[in-house]
Amino acid sequence: MTPAEFDFIAQYLKQKSGLVLTPDKQYLLDSRLTPVARRFNLPDLTALILKLRSGGDETVSKAVVEAMTTNESFFFRDKTPFEQFERMMLPALMKARAGQKRLRIWCAAASTGQEPYSLAMILKDKALSAQGWAVEIVGTDLSTEVLARATDGLYSQFEVQRGLPIQMLVKHFEKEGEQWRIKPDIRNAVKYRQANLLEPFRGHLTYDVIYCRNVLIYFDQPAKKDILERMAKLLAHDGYLVLGAAETVIGLTTAFAPVEGARGIYAKTAAASSLQAAI
Ligand SMILES: C[S@@+](CC[C@H](N)C(=O)[O-])C[C@H]1O[C@@H](n2cnc3c(N)ncnc32)[C@H](O)[C@@H]1O
Repeated sequence: MTPAEFDFIAQYLKQKSGLVLTPDKQYLLDSRLTPVARRFNLPDLTALILKLRSGGDETVSKAVVEAMTTNESFFFRDKTPFEQFERMMLPALMKARAGQKRLRIWCAAASTGQEPYSLAMILKDKALSAQGWAVEIVGTDLSTEVLARATDGLYSQFEVQRGLPIQMLVKHFEKEGEQWRIKPDIRNAVKYRQANLLEPFRGHLTYDVIYCRNVLIYFDQPAKKDILERMAKLLAHDGYLVLGAAETVIGLTTAFAPVEGARGIYAKTAAASSLQAAI
Protein backbone atom coordinates (compact mmCIF):
# COMPACT_ATOMS: atom_id res chain seq x y z
CA MET A 1 0.00 0.00 0.00
CA THR A 2 1.40 3.41 -0.94
CA PRO A 3 1.57 6.25 1.63
CA ALA A 4 -1.13 8.08 -0.35
CA GLU A 5 -3.41 5.04 -0.21
CA PHE A 6 -2.80 4.71 3.53
CA ASP A 7 -3.60 8.41 4.07
CA PHE A 8 -6.80 8.08 2.08
CA ILE A 9 -8.09 5.03 3.94
CA ALA A 10 -7.07 6.44 7.35
CA GLN A 11 -8.96 9.66 6.63
CA TYR A 12 -11.92 7.71 5.27
CA LEU A 13 -12.24 5.55 8.38
CA LYS A 14 -11.85 8.51 10.74
CA GLN A 15 -14.64 10.34 8.98
CA LYS A 16 -16.99 7.33 8.82
CA SER A 17 -16.47 5.73 12.24
CA GLY A 18 -14.07 7.89 14.27
CA LEU A 19 -11.34 5.25 14.09
CA VAL A 20 -7.87 6.76 14.31
CA LEU A 21 -5.39 4.61 12.43
CA THR A 22 -1.68 5.26 12.86
CA PRO A 23 0.84 4.06 10.25
CA ASP A 24 2.08 1.25 12.55
CA LYS A 25 -1.41 -0.31 12.20
CA GLN A 26 -1.10 -0.88 8.47
CA TYR A 27 -1.01 -4.64 9.11
CA LEU A 28 -4.61 -4.31 10.38
CA LEU A 29 -5.68 -2.88 7.04
CA ASP A 30 -4.03 -5.78 5.23
CA SER A 31 -5.48 -8.51 7.44
CA ARG A 32 -9.00 -7.11 7.74
CA LEU A 33 -9.56 -5.58 4.31
CA THR A 34 -8.04 -8.28 2.08
CA PRO A 35 -11.06 -10.56 2.76
CA VAL A 36 -13.38 -7.62 2.01
CA ALA A 37 -11.64 -7.03 -1.34
CA ARG A 38 -12.04 -10.74 -2.13
CA ARG A 39 -15.72 -10.67 -1.19
CA PHE A 40 -16.32 -7.95 -3.79
CA ASN A 41 -14.19 -9.72 -6.43
CA LEU A 42 -11.48 -7.09 -6.29
CA PRO A 43 -7.88 -8.25 -6.81
CA ASP A 44 -6.23 -6.26 -3.98
CA LEU A 45 -6.44 -3.35 -1.55
CA THR A 46 -5.43 -0.86 -4.24
CA ALA A 47 -8.56 -1.84 -6.20
CA LEU A 48 -10.67 -1.67 -3.02
CA ILE A 49 -9.38 1.82 -2.24
CA LEU A 50 -10.09 2.89 -5.81
CA LYS A 51 -13.65 1.66 -5.36
CA LEU A 52 -14.02 3.72 -2.18
CA ARG A 53 -12.51 6.77 -3.86
CA SER A 54 -15.04 6.56 -6.70
CA GLY A 55 -17.83 6.66 -4.03
CA GLY A 56 -21.39 5.53 -4.61
CA ASP A 57 -21.11 1.91 -3.43
CA GLU A 58 -22.61 1.95 0.08
CA THR A 59 -22.27 -1.83 0.49
CA VAL A 60 -18.51 -1.73 -0.03
CA SER A 61 -18.16 1.31 2.23
CA LYS A 62 -20.16 -0.35 5.03
CA ALA A 63 -18.19 -3.60 4.71
CA VAL A 64 -14.88 -1.71 4.94
CA VAL A 65 -15.94 0.35 7.97
CA GLU A 66 -17.40 -2.67 9.79
CA ALA A 67 -14.37 -4.85 9.05
CA MET A 68 -12.14 -2.27 10.74
CA THR A 69 -14.13 -2.17 14.00
CA THR A 70 -12.86 -4.19 16.95
CA ASN A 71 -15.81 -6.09 18.38
CA GLU A 72 -14.19 -7.90 21.28
CA SER A 73 -16.59 -8.24 24.20
CA PHE A 74 -17.40 -10.68 26.95
CA PHE A 75 -19.91 -11.21 29.71
CA PHE A 76 -19.32 -9.17 32.90
CA ARG A 77 -16.19 -7.68 31.30
CA ASP A 78 -13.84 -6.29 33.96
CA LYS A 79 -16.35 -7.35 36.68
CA THR A 80 -16.24 -4.01 38.61
CA PRO A 81 -18.62 -2.05 36.32
CA PHE A 82 -21.23 -4.76 36.89
CA GLU A 83 -20.58 -5.15 40.61
CA GLN A 84 -20.87 -1.36 40.93
CA PHE A 85 -24.11 -1.46 38.98
CA GLU A 86 -25.60 -4.00 41.35
CA ARG A 87 -24.21 -2.59 44.60
CA MET A 88 -24.12 1.16 44.09
CA MET A 89 -25.86 2.50 40.95
CA LEU A 90 -28.99 0.33 41.05
CA PRO A 91 -29.82 0.86 44.76
CA ALA A 92 -29.28 4.64 44.43
CA LEU A 93 -31.44 4.87 41.30
CA MET A 94 -34.18 2.63 42.73
CA LYS A 95 -34.38 4.91 45.72
CA ALA A 96 -34.48 8.04 43.57
CA ARG A 97 -37.03 6.56 41.11
CA ALA A 98 -39.25 4.80 43.71
CA GLY A 99 -42.18 6.94 42.55
CA GLN A 100 -42.11 6.26 38.80
CA LYS A 101 -40.44 2.81 38.98
CA ARG A 102 -38.80 3.27 35.59
CA LEU A 103 -35.17 2.93 34.57
CA ARG A 104 -33.46 3.36 31.22
CA ILE A 105 -30.02 2.04 30.36
CA TRP A 106 -28.04 2.59 27.16
CA CYS A 107 -25.15 0.40 26.03
CA ALA A 108 -23.68 2.70 23.40
CA ALA A 109 -21.21 0.19 21.89
CA ALA A 110 -23.13 -3.02 22.51
CA SER A 111 -21.17 -5.19 20.05
CA THR A 112 -22.33 -8.82 20.20
CA GLY A 113 -24.57 -8.22 23.23
CA GLN A 114 -22.57 -9.51 26.19
CA GLU A 115 -22.62 -6.13 27.98
CA PRO A 116 -26.39 -5.44 27.78
CA TYR A 117 -27.18 -9.09 28.53
CA SER A 118 -24.93 -9.00 31.62
CA LEU A 119 -27.03 -6.09 32.89
CA ALA A 120 -30.29 -7.82 31.92
CA MET A 121 -29.24 -10.92 33.90
CA ILE A 122 -28.49 -8.82 37.00
CA LEU A 123 -31.87 -7.10 36.70
CA LYS A 124 -33.69 -10.40 36.15
CA ASP A 125 -32.06 -11.90 39.25
CA LYS A 126 -33.24 -8.89 41.26
CA ALA A 127 -36.82 -9.59 40.07
CA LEU A 128 -37.39 -5.90 39.31
CA SER A 129 -40.27 -6.46 36.91
CA ALA A 130 -42.08 -8.61 39.49
CA GLN A 131 -41.90 -5.57 41.78
CA GLY A 132 -43.56 -3.38 39.16
CA TRP A 133 -40.43 -1.82 37.69
CA ALA A 134 -40.15 -1.10 33.97
CA VAL A 135 -36.53 -1.29 32.86
CA GLU A 136 -35.48 -0.56 29.29
CA ILE A 137 -32.07 -1.53 28.00
CA VAL A 138 -31.11 -0.10 24.62
CA GLY A 139 -28.08 -1.51 22.81
CA THR A 140 -26.63 0.41 19.86
CA ASP A 141 -23.58 -0.14 17.69
CA LEU A 142 -22.18 1.08 14.39
CA SER A 143 -21.93 -2.45 13.03
CA THR A 144 -25.09 -4.19 11.86
CA GLU A 145 -23.13 -7.44 11.70
CA VAL A 146 -22.48 -7.53 15.46
CA LEU A 147 -26.02 -6.37 16.21
CA ALA A 148 -27.39 -9.31 14.21
CA ARG A 149 -25.33 -11.62 16.43
CA ALA A 150 -26.49 -9.80 19.57
CA THR A 151 -30.12 -10.13 18.45
CA ASP A 152 -29.63 -13.82 17.75
CA GLY A 153 -28.21 -14.34 21.26
CA LEU A 154 -26.29 -17.48 20.32
CA TYR A 155 -22.81 -17.88 21.84
CA SER A 156 -20.02 -20.42 21.51
CA GLN A 157 -18.68 -22.46 24.40
CA PHE A 158 -15.59 -20.19 24.37
CA GLU A 159 -17.73 -17.04 24.64
CA VAL A 160 -19.79 -18.29 27.58
CA GLN A 161 -16.65 -19.42 29.36
CA ARG A 162 -15.29 -15.87 29.35
CA GLY A 163 -16.57 -14.06 32.44
CA LEU A 164 -19.98 -15.70 32.78
CA PRO A 165 -20.46 -17.42 36.16
CA ILE A 166 -21.58 -21.03 35.69
CA GLN A 167 -24.80 -20.51 37.68
CA MET A 168 -25.75 -17.65 35.32
CA LEU A 169 -25.04 -19.89 32.31
CA VAL A 170 -27.26 -22.65 33.65
CA LYS A 171 -30.02 -20.23 34.62
CA HIS A 172 -30.15 -17.92 31.60
CA PHE A 173 -28.98 -20.00 28.61
CA GLU A 174 -30.10 -23.13 26.80
CA LYS A 175 -27.74 -25.53 25.05
CA GLU A 176 -28.24 -25.60 21.29
CA GLY A 177 -25.93 -28.13 19.68
CA GLU A 178 -22.41 -27.03 20.56
CA GLN A 179 -23.58 -23.50 21.40
CA TRP A 180 -25.61 -21.66 24.02
CA ARG A 181 -28.66 -19.53 23.35
CA ILE A 182 -29.71 -16.80 25.78
CA LYS A 183 -33.25 -17.36 27.09
CA PRO A 184 -36.08 -15.25 25.60
CA ASP A 185 -36.75 -13.22 28.77
CA ILE A 186 -33.16 -11.93 28.82
CA ARG A 187 -33.06 -11.59 25.04
CA ASN A 188 -36.29 -9.56 25.00
CA ALA A 189 -35.08 -7.25 27.76
CA VAL A 190 -32.72 -5.53 25.28
CA LYS A 191 -33.74 -3.47 22.25
CA TYR A 192 -31.04 -3.15 19.60
CA ARG A 193 -30.55 -0.61 16.88
CA GLN A 194 -27.77 0.63 14.65
CA ALA A 195 -26.30 4.03 15.54
CA ASN A 196 -23.03 5.79 14.84
CA LEU A 197 -21.73 7.70 17.87
CA LEU A 198 -20.28 10.35 15.56
CA GLU A 199 -23.75 11.27 14.36
CA PRO A 200 -26.48 13.14 16.28
CA PHE A 201 -28.18 10.88 18.83
CA ARG A 202 -31.65 10.41 17.35
CA GLY A 203 -34.66 8.72 18.93
CA HIS A 204 -33.31 8.56 22.48
CA LEU A 205 -35.06 9.44 25.72
CA THR A 206 -33.21 10.35 28.91
CA TYR A 207 -31.09 7.55 30.39
CA ASP A 208 -30.30 6.73 34.00
CA VAL A 209 -27.14 4.83 33.11
CA ILE A 210 -24.98 4.96 29.98
CA TYR A 211 -22.39 2.26 29.37
CA CYS A 212 -19.92 3.52 26.77
CA ARG A 213 -17.12 1.04 27.22
CA ASN A 214 -14.08 0.26 25.11
CA VAL A 215 -15.01 2.35 22.11
CA LEU A 216 -13.76 5.88 22.87
CA ILE A 217 -10.20 4.49 22.97
CA TYR A 218 -10.30 4.29 19.15
CA PHE A 219 -11.20 7.98 18.66
CA ASP A 220 -9.24 11.24 18.78
CA GLN A 221 -9.66 13.81 21.59
CA PRO A 222 -12.19 16.12 19.84
CA ALA A 223 -14.43 13.15 18.94
CA LYS A 224 -14.28 11.81 22.51
CA LYS A 225 -15.14 15.22 23.95
CA ASP A 226 -18.02 15.73 21.53
CA ILE A 227 -19.52 12.28 22.22
CA LEU A 228 -19.18 12.64 26.00
CA GLU A 229 -20.77 16.09 26.02
CA ARG A 230 -23.68 14.95 23.87
CA MET A 231 -24.11 11.96 26.20
CA ALA A 232 -24.19 14.31 29.19
CA LYS A 233 -27.28 15.88 27.65
CA LEU A 234 -29.04 12.52 27.47
CA LEU A 235 -28.14 11.45 31.00
CA ALA A 236 -30.44 12.16 33.96
CA HIS A 237 -29.00 14.70 36.43
CA ASP A 238 -28.34 11.89 38.93
CA GLY A 239 -27.43 9.25 36.34
CA TYR A 240 -24.16 7.42 35.78
CA LEU A 241 -21.75 7.13 32.87
CA VAL A 242 -19.64 3.98 32.76
CA LEU A 243 -16.43 3.93 30.72
CA GLY A 244 -13.90 1.20 29.95
CA ALA A 245 -10.93 0.44 32.19
CA ALA A 246 -8.53 2.35 29.90
CA GLU A 247 -10.84 5.35 29.38
CA THR A 248 -11.48 8.55 31.32
CA VAL A 249 -13.22 11.92 31.03
CA ILE A 250 -10.31 13.68 32.68
CA GLY A 251 -8.65 16.20 30.38
CA LEU A 252 -11.54 15.92 27.89
CA THR A 253 -14.59 17.51 29.48
CA THR A 254 -15.77 18.99 32.77
CA ALA A 255 -19.32 17.72 32.17
CA PHE A 256 -18.52 14.58 34.17
CA ALA A 257 -16.50 13.85 37.28
CA PRO A 258 -15.40 10.47 38.66
CA VAL A 259 -17.64 8.96 41.34
CA GLU A 260 -15.46 8.61 44.40
CA GLY A 261 -14.43 5.05 45.14
CA ALA A 262 -16.01 3.69 41.94
CA ARG A 263 -13.38 3.28 39.22
CA GLY A 264 -14.63 3.96 35.68
CA ILE A 265 -17.92 5.46 36.85
CA TYR A 266 -18.76 9.11 36.32
CA ALA A 267 -21.52 11.48 37.42
CA LYS A 268 -22.67 14.69 35.77
CA THR A 269 -21.31 17.96 37.11
CA ALA A 270 -22.95 21.40 37.28
CA ALA A 271 -20.91 22.31 34.15
CA ALA A 272 -22.97 19.81 32.13
CA SER A 273 -26.03 22.05 32.25
CA SER A 274 -24.25 24.87 30.42
CA LEU A 275 -23.15 22.72 27.45
CA GLN A 276 -23.92 24.33 24.12
CA ALA A 277 -23.53 21.34 21.76
CA ALA A 278 -26.60 19.78 20.16
CA ILE A 279 -27.42 16.15 21.02
C1 LIG B 1 -14.48 -3.35 21.66
S1 LIG B 1 -16.21 -3.30 21.35
C2 LIG B 1 -16.81 -2.91 22.97
C3 LIG B 1 -17.99 -3.77 23.35
C4 LIG B 1 -18.48 -3.59 24.79
N1 LIG B 1 -18.86 -2.22 25.07
C5 LIG B 1 -17.43 -4.04 25.77
O1 LIG B 1 -16.80 -3.20 26.42
O2 LIG B 1 -17.22 -5.25 25.88
C6 LIG B 1 -16.33 -1.74 20.50
C7 LIG B 1 -17.62 -1.61 19.69
O3 LIG B 1 -17.73 -0.25 19.29
C8 LIG B 1 -18.35 -0.23 18.01
N2 LIG B 1 -18.05 1.06 17.36
C9 LIG B 1 -16.91 1.46 16.78
N3 LIG B 1 -17.04 2.70 16.27
C10 LIG B 1 -18.31 3.09 16.55
C11 LIG B 1 -19.05 4.28 16.28
N4 LIG B 1 -18.52 5.30 15.63
N5 LIG B 1 -20.33 4.32 16.70
C12 LIG B 1 -20.89 3.28 17.37
N6 LIG B 1 -20.24 2.13 17.66
C13 LIG B 1 -18.96 2.05 17.25
C14 LIG B 1 -17.74 -1.42 17.30
O4 LIG B 1 -18.54 -1.84 16.21
C15 LIG B 1 -17.62 -2.44 18.42
O5 LIG B 1 -18.71 -3.34 18.42
